[in-house]
Amino acid sequence: VSSVLTDLFGRQHSYLRISLTERCNLRCQYCMPEEGVQLSPKDELLTFDELVRLARIFASNGVSKIRLTGGEPLLYPQLSDLIREFRGMPGIESVGITTNGLTLARKLDALKDAGLTHLNVSLDTFHEHKFNIISRRRGLDRVFRGIDAAIDAGLTPKINVVLTRNVNDDELLDFVEWTREKPVDVRFIEYMPFDGNRWNMDRFVSYKEMLERIEQRFTLTRLSDHPNDTSKAWWVPGHAGRIGFITSMSEHFCGSCNRLRITANGQLKVCLFGSTEVDLKHALRRSENDEETIREIDAAVKRKKKQHAGMFELAKRKNRPMILIGG
Ligand code: GTP
Ligand code: 5AD
Ligand code: SF4
Repeated sequence: VSSVLTDLFGRQHSYLRISLTERCNLRCQYCMPEEGVQLSPKDELLTFDELVRLARIFASNGVSKIRLTGGEPLLYPQLSDLIREFRGMPGIESVGITTNGLTLARKLDALKDAGLTHLNVSLDTFHEHKFNIISRRRGLDRVFRGIDAAIDAGLTPKINVVLTRNVNDDELLDFVEWTREKPVDVRFIEYMPFDGNRWNMDRFVSYKEMLERIEQRFTLTRLSDHPNDTSKAWWVPGHAGRIGFITSMSEHFCGSCNRLRITANGQLKVCLFGSTEVDLKHALRRSENDEETIREIDAAVKRKKKQHAGMFELAKRKNRPMILIGG
């Protein structure tokens, strides 16, 4: 493994998150502004062949895990073909997607067949009327069908719950109760600020508060985390599923960060919250040779900051809206 993907703090980046599309079939409030976002012109988006070429560059420099995001990755027309390509690359051990689940039930067989290994699904509420408000669209029943299809197919989906006060925090215990019978890994995510999502402290619910509220009703056991997990894992003894907390705001985990991101329009982001981007698309298009692209990746990784700037600072900084990053 070369040192290209090792930063100045010794962090080795073995995990690449690729956003495949800027489009989505939902309009979640925490992810994008009501009026939508300006989409990149088609020729600014990475092509299938460029995605394969880039992934191969990263794989040969130590990336072993790829997660595909969006927008909504299930809207990417050649998703199965891409997963199959990635799974066939030397060095790549897992390929996951993070999806809103809307069209999952119908696509799952093809995805599994192509070699999908991991699946994360967003789900913020059990109530249809609330889903329609949060996502500004309809379809909660389809999300549940997708999750059940995934369980039936033998995957243990991770369920992402962005917990926001006075929106869905009254369902905190319902989600924990849900894990009694459902073999899922529910992760409660602290609400993070991004452009256009009107983040504010009044709607923020911390890890500490979530734990306290859950422990009033359930006995929790702390489980050990995998080395580069974003989430702190807990379990109610006897439950089929588990819970976890993604504490980006109150207890960041930047020290063990192993992630790099590529946006749908070909920009490398070395941090979810960093606004500096490196244009890999142009580097790729300028030359058939990968040298320049590798040099640009190396330089960007070496500029990666030790940690993000802290929650209040982040709320003031310019970044992309979440939908154009992919989480
Ligand atoms: P896996 O570990 O591969 O299952 O991925 P994940 O849980 O990190 O990714 P997922 O796409 O399900 O995202 C869940 C939440 O974690 C989202 O709110 C992401 O924005 C957040 N997240 C993912 N990666 C990072 C990261 O590197 N830093 C921070 N601060 N948050 C992250
Ligand atoms: N804060 C925290 N998590 C977010 N996600 C999207 N926007 C936010 C936000 N503002 C999560 C969604 C999705 C994942 C990719 O990112 O739950 O599952
Ligand atoms: Fe990594 Fe940036 Fe997330 Fe910290 S905030 S864990 S450095 S991506």
